[in-house]
Amino acid sequence: KEEIQARTITEDGRLFLQKAAQDGLETVWDRYQAQQPQCGFCELGLSCRNCSMGPCRIDPFGEGPQRGVCGADADIIVARNLGRMIAAGAASHSDHGRDLVEVLRKVGEGKAPGYGIQSEEKLRKLASELGVAQDGKSAEALAVAVAEALEEEFGTRKKALAFVGRVPEKRRKVWEKLGITPRGIDRETSEMMHRTHMGVDNDWKSLLLHGLRNALSDGWGGSLIATEVSDILFGVPKPVASEVNLRVLKEDQVNIVVHGHNPIVSEMIFQAAQDPELLQLAEEKGAQGINLAGLCCTGNELLMRRGIPIAGNHLMTELALSTGLVDMMLVDYQCIMPALGEAARCYHTRMVSTSDKARYPFMEHREFRPENARQLARDLVQEAVESYTRRIPAKVLSPPGDAVKMMAGFSVEAIVSALGGSAGPLIDAIKSGAIQGAVGVVGCNNPKIRHDYGHVTLTTRLIQNDVLVVDTGCAAVAHAKAGLKVPEAAEKAGPGLQQVCRALGIPPVLHMGSCVDNVRIFDLAAALAHALGTDISDLPLAAAAPEWYSEKAVSIACYAVASGVYTVLGTPPPIFGSPNIVKLLTEDLDDLLGASFAVEPDPTKAADLILERIRAKRAALGL
Ligand code: SF4
Ligand code: FE2
Repeated sequence: KEEIQARTITEDGRLFLQKAAQDGLETVWDRYQAQQPQCGFCELGLSCRNCSMGPCRIDPFGEGPQRGVCGADADIIVARNLGRMIAAGAASHSDHGRDLVEVLRKVGEGKAPGYGIQSEEKLRKLASELGVAQDGKSAEALAVAVAEALEEEFGTRKKALAFVGRVPEKRRKVWEKLGITPRGIDRETSEMMHRTHMGVDNDWKSLLLHGLRNALSDGWGGSLIATEVSDILFGVPKPVASEVNLRVLKEDQVNIVVHGHNPIVSEMIFQAAQDPELLQLAEEKGAQGINLAGLCCTGNELLMRRGIPIAGNHLMTELALSTGLVDMMLVDYQCIMPALGEAARCYHTRMVSTSDKARYPFMEHREFRPENARQLARDLVQEAVESYTRRIPAKVLSPPGDAVKMMAGFSVEAIVSALGGSAGPLIDAIKSGAIQGAVGVVGCNNPKIRHDYGHVTLTTRLIQNDVLVVDTGCAAVAHAKAGLKVPEAAEKAGPGLQQVCRALGIPPVLHMGSCVDNVRIFDLAAALAHALGTDISDLPLAAAAPEWYSEKAVSIACYAVASGVYTVLGTPPPIFGSPNIVKLLTEDLDDLLGASFAVEPDPTKAADLILERIRAKRAALGL
């Protein structure tokens, strides 16, 4: 019991941790425990296996070896390892973006039945940003031309990515001076892999600077493309009401859960789940309907645009299966634990992988392509209905009570419209002090931190102090479960923020989307900086990732800091083997970028660091 309490703050999490134990289901927490103690060299970033003269490790106490076989010291090894984490993260977001560009092109060519252009306005806006001629082109022809221009952002050697044009001039100058303007999305990742090969870049400072450029190719490149093209294909999110936690799974309905990151598959499943024939079939099989629910970011994508409820965040994915109510789980890629397929074997759940590049043990693979997606989605929903008839009653535990109500859909466009058409009222509220500042609380869950505790504690303290919180990803789901995403949650905010929220009818914690949608936060920050004629780093803003775990989160944190936003990490990154690098990242970057990192596992203390930073930025602005 105590162990379960220590693992998660969520009620549904605790209940289903017990259920999982009863069913003999191993969870991420069990495996984390079995790994203790974890390797101290790796925790400090001091182990290297970049070549076959190694593996090598540096003794942090100074007694054993201080150099690898090649001669690399602690600084070089830590910097190379961090660089490769950034490269992996940037590659993941960017490859996700590329998949959307492929669909956009196929839509333009008429080869993607079921997909379409939902926001021609955004397509045209992107076209002009990319310098694509519109001269009377149809939306379809323009989709092809825009897709081609976006493909160029990935591959060619340019001076700068097109979207660097969105960055305030002062910030662009900072990047130019440091030589970190991102030039090509794939180029920066590829160059990072090159630099970190044995015998290439052995200056830890230069490696880290390239790390920032690599991360910027994600934030102002790959992720941004993922978000913008998703908006073109599936619509720009608008405020929408929904529900969250395991109670969104319904005992009397066919439950289909989508998990992963890319809306390409989940949007087709969404369409198929409305099909009258399939609804009829569900009824014939004794179900009251077809209930679609999300997990992680593909869930966030559907939530933002369609109001589809969300069953949980990263650490809840195995526990969702333990309800015995999931008739089919469809996964695309990223953050899908390879344990899920085997876990599902305890139940009747059909597990289906959908992307050629993401395969999992004990899952059936059904390849989605733009050409076959509509039909395949229909087939799979039909199979899910059949799976419903195979539930194992003895294994079912229906979560008691009601799901938590929430609001999502706060794209930049939606925020500006809630403000009455411009960012002016937000700027006024910041100037008057009603809102002290704004913080992006983002990122994952990690069994090293009590599930959701980091997010909810940090965010509650921030809003109590009149700091507006915007969020994405698993952090957003944590906040929603804690009831922070309804307009009534304004009562938990300080007096100034409370008043603003009540006047606008918005929650104090605004859901801005999936992890690639962090770019929406930076778009908003850039717009505020433009409006005030300042740099992003002058604004009373910060970011936090209290429970981050993934390489993608490392890339996000790095582009946040490089964009001028102070960023506090809850889980320590593997850098502490190099005091030089710790000093650079947590202190010296401030002089170079006007922003730096902090590492603080205690979310209350992390909130205080952020509040202090916001006060300093306000004072510097004369507020
Ligand atoms: Fe060892 Fe150097 Fe090879 Fe790394 S690159 S494994 S430190 S020899
Ligand atoms: Fe995510």
